[in-house]
Amino acid sequence: MSTVLHPFELRDHATALALWQRTEGMGLGTWDEAEPIGCFLERNPGLSVVAEAHGRLVGAALCGHDGRRGFLYHAAVDRDFRGQGLGRLLVEFCLDRLRERGLTRCHLVTYQDNAEGRAFWRHLGFRERGELLICSHDLTA
Ligand SMILES: CC(C)(COP(=O)(O)OP(=O)(O)OC[C@H]1O[C@@H](n2cnc3c(N)ncnc32)[C@H](O)[C@@H]1OP(=O)(O)O)[C@@H](O)C(=O)NCCC(=O)NCCS
Repeated sequence: MSTVLHPFELRDHATALALWQRTEGMGLGTWDEAEPIGCFLERNPGLSVVAEAHGRLVGAALCGHDGRRGFLYHAAVDRDFRGQGLGRLLVEFCLDRLRERGLTRCHLVTYQDNAEGRAFWRHLGFRERGELLICSHDLTA
């Protein structure tokens, strides 16, 4: 199979969003629309990635950092293309870009009940941080 990785560009947004929407375990919202994703990509150039097979987008992951920690979001591979190493390639692409920028740790958030996703992350060396709890405050109200 001829699969290529390239940095996620705004032109990839519509097909990446369609992939995320048909992928189990994704938490999507208004922040995944084109404009906020464009802002995210501008703030984090070259860190996010897509995989293409025969010219079609079959995998994507968003990655950024705040100068202190890296963050991974929405890593997904199209069902027909799973189990061929693409998920690992996407994640390693992102981690390599973070390392190049001097980051020493990358976080991600996943749903507690996403057993397969959690097993994937553990397999790739991510430690679950049972001692930590994510807290959020909505700034729109
Ligand atoms: C998780 C996901 C991205 C993996 O993509 P993939 O292309 O099938 O993964 P790969 O083929 O690159 O697998 C990489 C390694 O992880 C292992 N792996 C893959 N899925 C796994 C799982 N569910 N549990 C344990 N290990 C897993 C593979 O055996 C492989 O091991 P190796 O490189 O040591 O041989 C894909 O299954 C997916 O899109 N799932 C739905 C979305 C999701 O849950 N995303 C993560 C949480 S946000």
